[in-house]
Amino acid sequence: MGYGPPPGLTFLRRSPDRRTLLPTPGDTLPGMELLTNLFVVLHLLGLAAIVGSAVFVARGVPTPALVWGARAQILTGLLLVGLNEAGDDPVNHTKIGVKLLVALGVAACAEIAAGRERRGQGNPNLVHAAGGLAVLNTLVAVLWT
Ligand code: HEM
Repeated sequence: MGYGPPPGLTFLRRSPDRRTLLPTPGDTLPGMELLTNLFVVLHLLGLAAIVGSAVFVARGVPTPALVWGARAQILTGLLLVGLNEAGDDPVNHTKIGVKLLVALGVAACAEIAAGRERRGQGNPNLVHAAGGLAVLNTLVAVLWT
């Protein structure tokens, strides 16, 4: 055991001229990893809601799970980008750009399908498209390394 601040409190160090505090490379705020992991869980639950509803259960029907899952993916995805940028994890901006476009496509299909359903003009194709695009985004998330 050496001297110095306890683990988790070492994320700031003095600049060479000792006037300012700088973040220490390789160190993040305590609790940030846990927060990121919790948002990954929400992100995966959003994926489960979309694909579970559109592909496996209510095929062709725009359920609240599909619509709210699609909205949640955009929100949790953007928060994850922010958390990863703030921490040390590198962010592949091209991959994120592609995922955002595909996720906007999922949300657009889900919202339009739900709107049409409310007016009694259900369109199963839009629900199939939302489910298919969500599966595509899962492939992008996992296979694009
Ligand atoms: C339908 C939409 C989406 C689906 C199905 C989806 C799916 C996934 C999956 C399965 C993972 C886990 C990958 C792994 O750990 O290997 C993941 C991670 C991630 N996604 Fe998405 N995603 C979607 C939308 C988005 C959007 C819109 C963004 C940001 C604009 C985003 C940003 C991220 C980030 C930053 C991670 C990495 C999290 C981490 O490990 O810290 N995702 N996504």
